[in-house]
Amino acid sequence: MRLIETIGKWLDARLQIGETIRETAEHSVPRDTASWFYVFGSAALVVFMLQIATGIMLALIYVPSAGQAWNSLQILNHSITLGWFIRGLHGWGSDFMVAIVLIHMVQVFLFGAYKYPRELTWMVGVLLLLVTLGMAFTGQVLRFDQDAYWGLGIGVSIASHVPLMGSWIVSLMLGGPIIAGATLTRFFALHVFVIPGLLIGFVAVHLLMVIKLGINEWPMPGRIVRKATYVKEYHELTKKDGIPFVPAAVWKDMFFSGAILLAVAACAIYFGPFGPSGQPDPTIIQTAPRPDFFFLWLYAVLSFLPPSMETPAMLIGPVVVIGGLLLLPFIFGEGEKSWKRRPIAVLTILLVAVALGTLTHLATYTPWSPVMDAWSSLPIPAEYLHNRSALERQGALVFQVKQCHNCHSLDHEGGKRGPALDAVALQLTDDQLIRQVIQGGGNMPAYGKNLSPAETTALVSFLKTLHPEGRPPARDAALAHAAGSVAPATHP
Ligand code: HEC
Repeated sequence: MRLIETIGKWLDARLQIGETIRETAEHSVPRDTASWFYVFGSAALVVFMLQIATGIMLALIYVPSAGQAWNSLQILNHSITLGWFIRGLHGWGSDFMVAIVLIHMVQVFLFGAYKYPRELTWMVGVLLLLVTLGMAFTGQVLRFDQDAYWGLGIGVSIASHVPLMGSWIVSLMLGGPIIAGATLTRFFALHVFVIPGLLIGFVAVHLLMVIKLGINEWPMPGRIVRKATYVKEYHELTKKDGIPFVPAAVWKDMFFSGAILLAVAACAIYFGPFGPSGQPDPTIIQTAPRPDFFFLWLYAVLSFLPPSMETPAMLIGPVVVIGGLLLLPFIFGEGEKSWKRRPIAVLTILLVAVALGTLTHLATYTPWSPVMDAWSSLPIPAEYLHNRSALERQGALVFQVKQCHNCHSLDHEGGKRGPALDAVALQLTDDQLIRQVIQGGGNMPAYGKNLSPAETTALVSFLKTLHPEGRPPARDAALAHAAGSVAPATHP
């Protein structure tokens, strides 16, 4: 004990921060703020620290490579002592953190705490929400399982709708045109260095302002915020009826944070870690990929929008929402704080909550991605089956069953991720068709393992029929030569 005290004194003589820390800890806060409504900010901080600790532990084992990421999660789940528990803590901690940050924001909004002089605190808080969501999204991609693969794939194909910059955004996100090793490396760097760096920086600024400006007083109906007088009134309040933050107000924070940590641990033990779901296999299109809970509503919105609205909504929606949040304290920087006198604020929260709840609910049981699902039941247009041989019709069936329609249109119906195939036989020879189907490439999955040789033959003979009437399909020059229709080619 004596030794610790001596070391402490030695350090403080040189660092000179003991006094500052004591003053900060004991600074006077309004008596009413020692309330259960004021515990969410500190709980978010505590869960964030849990995320850092468990994240570092996971990074020791996790391999950020497309070939090994999935395996390293299996090793964590099954071979390493308590590996599953650390994964569970990290995964559930992420969900809890997003939830607590949201609740904290709602509380701050309803209590008018964003008003003068705390506008900047609120704005940094909005940035904190965005980076927290960024962590949740990049983290889910690191699982690199079936859900992550398709969730990201669809997210990216949505991003590619952005006019002019679409393909640039895609290659920035993925590190190339397709989801591959470079994608994972990129998301790993984001999740482990870039976003946490931002998060720590924003948290520091946010906390500094909370301490400097003081905790928002309990909103009393009728107590009006005016820029000219607010700071003086606040100081009078804390002087007259203040209590020291430590120990009078802090114990509720500690109690609540402790309860949250226990809840995270309970979820990790009871429900276990998230996935990984199946190994990422681009050829399995029939999965119902789902993003993590907090992004479900977003996918629901996008799946219910008519395709023509997707691009405008994608471009305008985030700007309006984020811009609105950032501007809020400038528009309503003064005036009444109490939610009892701000019916519109309360209504707004209720509306947003009902909307998000409904969309999340819809997304949990409807196939939320028409882009991947809606066309699987589209029939192949009849004119493509007319006067065809049995083999060619068999091929049309393979085309149907293997969901090629999801990405390729025939007669203007079907997916738009790949090129329309109405005249594909004009451009590609048999060999090229076979290669494309078996090896995929350029954002098309390789079907090699998922097609029997008979199916491939049938499929290609169907594809060979896809050319406008009167124009012969492409042929290999060498074979054409054998048939005598082209001048002899000179072979080296
Ligand atoms: C996940 C979406 C997706 C699915 C599913 C898909 N493709 Fe593709 N396909 C693509 C993309 C993207 C391209 C363009 C590749 C490129 O640009 O190199 C493509 C290209 C092609 C081409 C070459 C077209 C050309 O004009 O060069 C053929 C042929 C083809 N696909 C056939 C099929 C068949 C047959 C199936 C079903 C077994 C299928 N595709 C399933 C996305 C898909």
